[in-house]
Amino acid sequence: MNITTVAEGIYQLSVNVENILFEGLWEIPNGVSLNSYIIKGEKTAIVDGVCGWDGVPESLFALLDKMDINPESIEYLIVNHMEPDHSGWIENFKKINSNFKVVSTAKAAELLDGFYGHTDNIIMVKDDDTLDLGNGRVLTFKEIPNVHWPDTMATFDTLTGTLFSCDAFGAFGSVTDGNYDDLLKEEEIDFYENEAVRYYSNIVGAFSLQVKKAIEKCSQLPIKIIAPGHGIVWRKNPNKILEDYERYASYSKGPAKEEITIIWGSMYGMTEKAVRYVEKVLKEEGIKVNVHQVPEDSWGTVLASVWNSTGIILAMPTYEYKMFPPVAAVLEEIGKKKVLNRKVFRFGSYGWSGGAQKELDEIVTRLRMNWEFLEPVEFKGSASEEELELIGERAKDLVKEVRNAVNK
Ligand SMILES: Cc1cc2nc3c(=O)[nH]c(=O)nc-3n(C[C@H](O)[C@H](O)[C@H](O)COP(=O)(O)O)c2cc1C
Ligand SMILES: [Fe+2]
Ligand SMILES: [Fe+2]
Repeated sequence: MNITTVAEGIYQLSVNVENILFEGLWEIPNGVSLNSYIIKGEKTAIVDGVCGWDGVPESLFALLDKMDINPESIEYLIVNHMEPDHSGWIENFKKINSNFKVVSTAKAAELLDGFYGHTDNIIMVKDDDTLDLGNGRVLTFKEIPNVHWPDTMATFDTLTGTLFSCDAFGAFGSVTDGNYDDLLKEEEIDFYENEAVRYYSNIVGAFSLQVKKAIEKCSQLPIKIIAPGHGIVWRKNPNKILEDYERYASYSKGPAKEEITIIWGSMYGMTEKAVRYVEKVLKEEGIKVNVHQVPEDSWGTVLASVWNSTGIILAMPTYEYKMFPPVAAVLEEIGKKKVLNRKVFRFGSYGWSGGAQKELDEIVTRLRMNWEFLEPVEFKGSASEEELELIGERAKDLVKEVRNAVNK
């Protein structure tokens, strides 16, 4: 990607990363961008850094070269967040510039020592501290702890009203040179909205309370532009991503959208037969349904759907006196990401003893998910006509519950 101009004296340098699992775990079918920003006053600062995933910063140096910026002239490295997707380049940067100052929170400074043994020339900042770059350019800082690590802060350029929000207000999805909301078509904005839900649910969903606090804090600033660490830059309508994030944060406690997500697994097709029947019933009910088979669909994909859904259907057989393991595994992760207060229906096949339901109850209780369950339907082997009908009726009851909760 090339360097682009965000606003007067502010430049964006980004690289896209594809074909990896983000955080070693999350599938990113459409990639992710790592965004870095250069801020020029009399002095130059760089906010977060761009490098390949392996930490090799050739991409950064090539981009700086194109801009005619000598890396040695960069006086401040603003580390909004120490997670290596933003800070992994510092070690290499030190090889070519030994004369810079790091600007970060005290917590990030501690992590900088822990991760890279870096302890020199650190300016620790707290809420509302300022940094004067000269030529009228003054930066201020806002701590936004736990969005996404305890060290995170946002940097605000008072001259242009640009908020460098790091992981807050970010999205998955690779970007192009035109990654500004004022240059994107409506369908492209929609694409990034889906990518934002995937990113939110996978990366920051567990910290929704802190996200809300961050939104409140940042909203006190006269924001004109939001330039996050991942995803697109909001210049025309920064309020959209603030409002979207507010909405995503509220989905943690529910209700979310008028949607149902079916998460199912099946060994020999007994449970699957009932899933197919339920899909038909839900289609007739005219509600939006997301269907995910596990382990075929990744955790990240399931989480993105579940985040948006007020209703959940779990369909799995009993396996060694417990739940079919891939459903149990994704359910644990859903619980840890704080997908709370959902309306839920579960059905599934068993052979002789059952046991899936017991484990399901245990997980939901232990993770305090506060899910409201309709009476489950379990069937021996293949579901009979009557059992299928009963499952269909319960699915319709779930639709009613979902609609009631959303339209309350
Ligand atoms: C490896 C394995 C373990 C199983 N463990 C149990 C069990 O502990 N209790 C039980 O009632 N049925 C058990 N079953 C039987 C399945 O629950 C039963 O075959 C069911 O119909 C499978 O549904 P499915 O075709 O949707 O996977 C087990 C089956 C397999 C293959
Ligand atoms: Fe992060
Ligand atoms: Fe990040």
